[in-house]
Amino acid sequence: MSKKDNIILIGFMGVGKGTVARALVKESSYFAIDTDDLIESIDNRKVKKIFEEDGEVYFRSLEKKCALWLEKNVNNTIISTGGGFFKQNNIHKIGKIIYLESSFEGILERINNSVNAKSKLKKRPLLNDLKEARKLYNQRINDYRKVSDLTICVENRDIKDITEDILGNI
Ligand code: S3P
Repeated sequence: MSKKDNIILIGFMGVGKGTVARALVKESSYFAIDTDDLIESIDNRKVKKIFEEDGEVYFRSLEKKCALWLEKNVNNTIISTGGGFFKQNNIHKIGKIIYLESSFEGILERINNSVNAKSKLKKRPLLNDLKEARKLYNQRINDYRKVSDLTICVENRDIKDITEDILGNI
């Protein structure tokens, strides 16, 4: 089956998927959507609340629903995703997958240097415990690489450089 012309940004929490998606929109004719935003919208709760009230398994079921909808209905769009979305079985049917890669330290540095660092940490339930988060990062890193069509290093690079790299490679 031929790929749809969506660009899917995957990678660990806080790596900058949303930021890169918004920058790509400015530099191209693409529009962008975000899987966590779509889930929050249909469920009318923040991701943090969904985790607290109904748990991770329920959240993953919403991601699955979202993935099926994207496959069926979305084209010519940059899709930024939650850090666990790469596990969706149909992800290759949605579009071209780009892994935004950074070391765990690089991600923490990026978050801590942002103006809203506190809220960035607070809204992500799986980042509450940094020891656990590092474990999760180490568990996922090979799978991110395996599932992606293209890996783009984002650590210590400015956003213009990253977007040029992506647009030159798709
Ligand atoms: C998750 C990442 C979050 C969000 C949820 C679970 C994960 O998205 O989907 O908290 O499993 O890595 P971000 O990657 O945008 O933080």
